[in-house]
Amino acid sequence: MDLPKSDALVFFGATGDLAYKQIFPSLQRLAKRGKLNGPVIGVAKAGWTLDQLKARAKDSCEKHGGIDPEGLPLLLERLCYVDGDYADDSTFVRVRKELGSAQHPLHYLAIPPSLFAEVIEKLKTSGNADGARVVVEKPFGHDLASARALNQVIHRVFNERDIFRIDHYLGKNAVQNLIFFRFANSFLEPIWNRQYIESVQITMSEKFGIQGRGAFYDSVGALRDVVQNHLMQVVSNIAMEPPPCPDVESIRDERVKVLRSAQPLDPQDLLLGQLAGYHDEPGVKPDSKVETFAMLRLHINSWRWRDVPFYIRAGKSLPVTATEVIAKFCQTPPVFSEELTPQNYVRFRLSPIPHTAIGGSVKQAGDRLLGCMTELTAEQDCGTENLLPYEELLQDAMQGNQTWFAREDYVEESWRILDPILKDPPAPVIYQPGTWGPSQTGQFAPPEGWFNPKEDQ
Ligand code: BG6
Repeated sequence: MDLPKSDALVFFGATGDLAYKQIFPSLQRLAKRGKLNGPVIGVAKAGWTLDQLKARAKDSCEKHGGIDPEGLPLLLERLCYVDGDYADDSTFVRVRKELGSAQHPLHYLAIPPSLFAEVIEKLKTSGNADGARVVVEKPFGHDLASARALNQVIHRVFNERDIFRIDHYLGKNAVQNLIFFRFANSFLEPIWNRQYIESVQITMSEKFGIQGRGAFYDSVGALRDVVQNHLMQVVSNIAMEPPPCPDVESIRDERVKVLRSAQPLDPQDLLLGQLAGYHDEPGVKPDSKVETFAMLRLHINSWRWRDVPFYIRAGKSLPVTATEVIAKFCQTPPVFSEELTPQNYVRFRLSPIPHTAIGGSVKQAGDRLLGCMTELTAEQDCGTENLLPYEELLQDAMQGNQTWFAREDYVEESWRILDPILKDPPAPVIYQPGTWGPSQTGQFAPPEGWFNPKEDQ
């Protein structure tokens, strides 16, 4: 069935941080590639004029990747602005007016999660939801019950096939490559299971701190900001089974099954940390117990992964900025000497500069039969069409392609895993900026310790 292409884009939260850092640069590129049809309508309550929004768009592109002399004018030509309160019906009447003859608008809610339900209801009552699609930013809910409630609210207005729960990690080539590399290489898949893999580590380390997002961050914390969404997406891609056919729902089915087979998190498998000085951030509550670091151990009880621990950690103000997956293979017995050789691994560097590496032992120079670790590294620079994550995902949403969006059951399953500890999370342990989180890493850290990613050169 041919799906209609969206013929207008409405983005709520047009003056916000996400629009500034990610959305305008992506829209500029979409405009250049001729992928934007109809008006691009920014909505926000900032008391701005259209000229101010255009200046912001220009500044955003300049600071985040550079101005494209072809793309930016094409975007600015289409840009419209509606300034108004989301609680006010007249805001939505004006959106409808700006849409003109558009029949299939895409409404993108790049706004705080607390506003989703209200905006969705108003889209319906104002007629803006007719023939439309909706993109909802993460985090989708703040626990299982609220995610379910939000799904119900959205379903009262939109069909599931028109709902796009966005997570920009799914738009990253390196994250998609986790699936591709596994299933496109015959050497890997036969050993990608509990018989050969001992453990998996996922690190999302950020050298920077809260960056002025105190009010938002303090309402979410590391678990809701990146673990429930970005890192669960990574887990799904590493652990899923090959889809029986390459259609959208088969891929999404396999990704959900991974989460369904994961045990709800045990408090024993969780350590939270808070950055020293976090309370000084503007917007953070003085007595906040919100975590800026989380470390957890996940158990996936599927046939393929039972008893293979998945160690996950994410934090702000750590020593480097890098997101990396390490799958460690089981130890070989000592062959040539009494000393064990270093364990093999596959390392997927997801960002900032993606590459894939296989760690293996070679004999050290000298008269003794000892091994040392070396890596075979594959740079991921093939292909010319390097899309930004939001560029790819917004393009997909406008075409109605849901492959890289979270389905209703997926978000609910991801919350189900974290739910037991969200109501009463353990108190975070203070850590110093520039360290790998709290020094007390608990009993569940990987037995041979964490593999700390190195800074990209
Ligand atoms: C966002 C989080 O979703 O992802 C941020 O809100 C985080 O806190 C960011 O820094 C990381 O994204 P990326 O693409 O830079 O790894």
